[in-house]
Amino acid sequence: MMVRKAVLIPGDGIGPEVTDAVLSVLDAAAVEIEWVRRDAGIAALATGNDVLPEDTIEAIEHYQVALKGPCTTPVGDGFSSVNVQLRKRFNLYAAVRPVRSLAGVKTRYENVDLIIIRENTEGLYSGVENEVVPGVVMSMKVATENGCLRIAHWAFRFATQRQRRRITVFHKANIMKMTDGLFLRSSEQVHRKEYPNIDYETVIIDAGCMRLVQDPSQFDILLLENLYGDVVSDLCAGFVGGLGVIPGANYGENEAIFEAVHGSAPDIAGKNVANPLALLMSAVMMLNYLANDDPAYGSAAERIRRAYDQALLDGQKTRDLGGTLNTDEFARAVIDRL
Ligand code: NAI
Repeated sequence: MMVRKAVLIPGDGIGPEVTDAVLSVLDAAAVEIEWVRRDAGIAALATGNDVLPEDTIEAIEHYQVALKGPCTTPVGDGFSSVNVQLRKRFNLYAAVRPVRSLAGVKTRYENVDLIIIRENTEGLYSGVENEVVPGVVMSMKVATENGCLRIAHWAFRFATQRQRRRITVFHKANIMKMTDGLFLRSSEQVHRKEYPNIDYETVIIDAGCMRLVQDPSQFDILLLENLYGDVVSDLCAGFVGGLGVIPGANYGENEAIFEAVHGSAPDIAGKNVANPLALLMSAVMMLNYLANDDPAYGSAAERIRRAYDQALLDGQKTRDLGGTLNTDEFARAVIDRL
């Protein structure tokens, strides 16, 4: 295995705890990555730095791959989200979040195997807000033809490579005729002209959410604009055990940042009880990505995946999944099964 350098951003809240747990598993699996540690978020502010320091940006630009813990964003005022800034700075336009039922984790639903593809740079997340006159504020939803076509191409290409059968677009183009209309027309066009062999379906998002809750196994890939993707990701996390088990990847043309869907969880931070699995799964996604250059990363990813699957099957779980293990104890249970 070649030694690859990658950026590590532990982040805020539970970030450092789950990061330590994940690193212990990767070390035990002898994954050859030299980590370049950088700060972002409150952790960076605490060292007297900017919330997104220049040396963090430079490191990602240079090494092009990062594993990132969650970063806290103040609610209602304060600095704008570091996560959103990073996605914009590196044009990480495709967020991918696999949602799968896990053997050993009992939930209301079975056989869930969904992949959420979220447009990650436009929509209401553009952060274009202003006060029109005192007492009247507005937030602008931005959609560009380039951005909509780009994510549609990405999604259909991904579906083809992964041999997935269908893409469903959730939208609200009946009301937001221009922005969601453009998103919808772009994906329809890419489907019709280039990928007619992949099933394609469109659903108005409110009805889509109802159908999801009735039977999530009826969906395959969901393609959504930014805010819908954000909300529906957490909804879908609930089908398979919660935010502790949903990984994520943010892909651009050159850079890729891997991070769990969950946030910094201030309610449980510092208690050694957070589930490190979502970040571990994100690290596995990263290893599979690095396997494009060196297949050894792919075999390490597979060994780790089998080990955490086995740990769950053996009833080794953190509290969010109904178990009793602490963060580091779950990491140890995975290591014991490598
Ligand atoms: P959250 O995801 O941090 O927490 C929601 C609930 O899920 C909490 O009860 C928490 O304890 C639980 N939870 C989350 N991750 C868990 C884990 N690994 N193991 C066990 N339980 C877990 O969402 P919340 O509370 O809305 O946001 C907290 C902060 O995180 C905010 O500042 C928000 O902006 C930020 N955030 C950052 C993200 C990122 O860095 N990509 C993503 C989402 C939120």
